[in-house]
Parts: sequence; structure tokens; C-alpha cells
Amino acid sequence: MADEQREIEMEVLRYNPEEDAEPHYQSYTVPFSNDTSVMQGLQYIKDHLDGSLTFRWSCRMAVCGSCGKMVDGVPHLSCKTFLRDYYPGKVRIEPLAHFPIVRDLAVDQTDFLEKLEKIKPYIIRDEAKPLAEGTYNQTPAELDRFKQYSMCINCLLCYAACPQYGLNPEFTGPAALALLHRYNADSRDQGKAERMPVINAEEGVWGCTLVGYCSEVCPKQVDPAGAVNQNKINSTMDYFLRFLAPRGASHS
Ligand code: SF4
Ligand code: FES
Repeated sequence: MADEQREIEMEVLRYNPEEDAEPHYQSYTVPFSNDTSVMQGLQYIKDHLDGSLTFRWSCRMAVCGSCGKMVDGVPHLSCKTFLRDYYPGKVRIEPLAHFPIVRDLAVDQTDFLEKLEKIKPYIIRDEAKPLAEGTYNQTPAELDRFKQYSMCINCLLCYAACPQYGLNPEFTGPAALALLHRYNADSRDQGKAERMPVINAEEGVWGCTLVGYCSEVCPKQVDPAGAVNQNKINSTMDYFLRFLAPRGASHS
């Protein structure tokens, strides 16, 4: 089919907390072709119609995780979502749900960043191996145990999809728990005992009510819901092992 130019109405949420009492929608008519992404539509608005429109993006190729938006109510990477799929209707663009708005489509990610820090997203060793002894080698099977969870790009689509996080922002949430699992499952890591309190807490894995929408919207097939479920098992085992080995042998 010829890649003809068409026009679509983009209805964009606007909000400048310094000037607006309430968020409101503004409509723009945007030309597009078959390969015009929602992000490119927003760039067209910014470049040609309204330079004050604020939104985040960087890589344009589903790698950096910064361009997440609600597109017709569904969390998507806007660089990986195409206007053609919403034509001939209009398409509504809003900031990611469940996060405070900084301005227009840009949200405040502080809460997630604090949670990320709490799960200690790095390899912890009791004692680091001297450099002269070389690298920490892993078998393909050891790599498989955490590789999927290491694909997370911190795009926060899973938080926007999670009704539990919407109800209770204390909930650690899908990506942070998936990343926690990524490090606990890594054969080079010895930090499980330090992370178990985050898993076991009420706002840890037990805050999840098994909706599973987080895994549906994840653009990197991380399956955060799977990681949370796996850690419900780990948390239960940790609970019982604490009775059998109260001095922390469960964490060895
Ligand atoms: S788990 Fe998936 S949806 Fe959630 S932040 Fe990571 S990549 Fe994004
Ligand atoms: S712009 Fe980087 S993921 Fe979309």
C-alpha cells in the first residue's frame, strides 16, 4: 500500500502546575505516514504547533525507557507505538498513570528511584575477588536464571499498569521487585540476606494481588509478575527457614 500522508487528531493532556488549576486536554491535527510513531507525532506538535509541550524521550528505539505515555489509556513506549493503529479515530495521550505530573506528559519518577535504591540493584560480595584472579565466570544455565529480569529499561509502564501501586504507592512495585530478583538470582551475588526484608515486607511481594497486567504491558518481556510470584515462594521459604535456622542460615 502506498505510504500516503494522512492526518490524525492527537488529544494531549496539558498541565502546568504553576499556571493551571487542573489538567486539561488540547487537540492537535498531526500529519502522519505508516511509520510515524506517537513520539514523532508529539515532536511534530512541539516543532510546528506548540513549542511549550513537555515530554521525555531520548533513544527513539525502545532502549532508554524514557518515552512511556498512556496512549488511549494503555501504557506504551511512545517511540514503539504508531499513529496508524489509531486512525481514523483520534488518539489520546496522557502521562503515565499513578505518578505525579511535573508538566504536561513528564512525570515525577522520584518514588521509583527511591525504591530502586532500596533493593540494592548491584552485585554484593562478602569479599571481592582480587582483580588478578580474573572474572566471575558463569555457566549458560546460571545466566539464564536472571537474564530475562536484567532486560528491564526502567520505563515504568508496569507501574502505570499496576492497580495495586495506584491504590497504595508504598507498594515496592513490579520493576523494582523484578530487578531485586535479577540480583538475588545471580550466582555472583551474595546480597540476598540484605534484600529479603524488602521482599518480606507488607509493601514487598505480599502487596501484589496477582493482576498480571504489569507483564502484559512490559515492552521487554521482563515478566515482573513472574518475578514477584517467584519471590512469594522465596519469602514463604525464608519465613519457615527462620524457625528452623534462626541465626540466618536460610540466607547462606
Ligand atoms: S519491568 Fe518492563 S514495564 Fe516494568 S520498568 Fe522494566 S521494562 Fe518497563
Ligand atoms: S525514546 Fe527511548 S524507549 Fe522510547
